Amino acid sequence: MDLRLGRDTFGDARNTGQLMELAEAHQLLREWVLNQRLLFHMEQVGHLLKCWASERGYNEPTIHLWHLAGLLHDADWDQFPEQHCAKIIAELERREQDPALMRAIASHGPRYFGVEPQSELDKMLYAFDELSGLTHAYSLMRPEGYEGMEVKGVKKRLKDKTFAAQVSREDINDAVGRLNITLDELIRFVIDWQLRAPEVAVLEG
Ligand SMILES: [Fe+2]
Ligand SMILES: [Fe+2]
Repeated sequence: MDLRLGRDTFGDARNTGQLMELAEAHQLLREWVLNQRLLFHMEQVGHLLKCWASERGYNEPTIHLWHLAGLLHDADWDQFPEQHCAKIIAELERREQDPALMRAIASHGPRYFGVEPQSELDKMLYAFDELSGLTHAYSLMRPEGYEGMEVKGVKKRLKDKTFAAQVSREDINDAVGRLNITLDELIRFVIDWQLRAPEVAVLEG
């Protein structure tokens, strides 16, 4: 399955700063995604990105952009896997969204989509994507969940290729190599913020 997008620019610069409300994003997800685990995954990645942007002191519109990027990045994976990424990007372009939103989504898997992460948002989405799921899988096998979870425990699961085998270690390493933080710091952040919101359920409203 070739998912390469074959282009590097998305949306229209005139729409910079234009973003849908959260309710519209939720509506889109309800229509496109039937798989609850996938919804949960997107909520979790959206949550991490939102927390990252707010920890950095970014303004509200920026935090919202980051949140939406996480929330929507796999929106087409459930019903249109052979059009993964292209489909949601086209839809967001049709809805005249900020190009930064589509750019981030387009670069969340450079190996598959052929688009290199450039901005901090692009890179953080790529970095959180796989690590979030592995950390969550680890929390589910611990009786205490996220409580008391240590970075070294997550790293051990990363080394054990049979654990959450679908999680790409290659992508995680590649993503971390593009950041100015270490793998340990990234894992710490994921644990801390998923601990505070182990079940993000924003899709009700
Ligand atoms: Fe994806
Ligand atoms: Fe994802």
